[in-house]
Amino acid sequence: MSARAGGRFIVLEGPEGAGKSTVAPRLAERIRAAGLPLVTVREPGGTPVAEAARRALLEDHPASGMAELFLFLAARADLVAAVIRPALAAGQVVLADRYELSTEAYQAVGRGLEPAFVQAANAAATGGLRADLTLILDLPDGVGRQRQLAGGKAGDRLDREAEEFHRRVAAFYRGVRGPGIVHLDGSRPVNEVAEAAWDAVEGVLKQH
Ligand code: TYD
Repeated sequence: MSARAGGRFIVLEGPEGAGKSTVAPRLAERIRAAGLPLVTVREPGGTPVAEAARRALLEDHPASGMAELFLFLAARADLVAAVIRPALAAGQVVLADRYELSTEAYQAVGRGLEPAFVQAANAAATGGLRADLTLILDLPDGVGRQRQLAGGKAGDRLDREAEEFHRRVAAFYRGVRGPGIVHLDGSRPVNEVAEAAWDAVEGVLKQH
């Protein structure tokens, strides 16, 4: 039997300001309203070790790209082992705000670490656990930054990276293709994005 039994693993991804944190609770509401048991997580974080890594990562300590990579992966390894795998094994739906694609976007494309190495390290951290569905909220260049400034979001260490860093990250997300990947237009009103996200989730829930 697979680790996930009846469970489903849904991931939300996208660049800064794409609206993940406003879409996630609406999508969670729809999943719960359909009577499905749901666990929500946000990366990095969700266990004591992962929260400690989050503080180290997002505060203003200088860290090399490689140090940053392993902190994100330590957080992910702990979250997968302690929360995500047990929930999937119990037949629950897991909705994650960011997962391994974030590491490819920020540490490989953004920081310039070797993509194949980042993918292998990701797979080691997760024990090969892949999402059933990855919803990518896409945005045209610049829109995410404008939204963040307008919303007064206090920038963490990665938010404060150069404009060009964020352009590369957003372009990477727009170009991702593969099994279980669905792109949504993050520039549309949040209700419409949440509806489109729910349509995609429903499709995956019907599969067995
Ligand atoms: P968070 O405040 O949760 O931001 P957001 O609302 O954009 O998700 O901070 C997470 C930050 O960490 C965000 O800038 C993306 C970055 N990140 C990575 O660089 N690599 C990773 O593997 C993950 C999970 C996040």
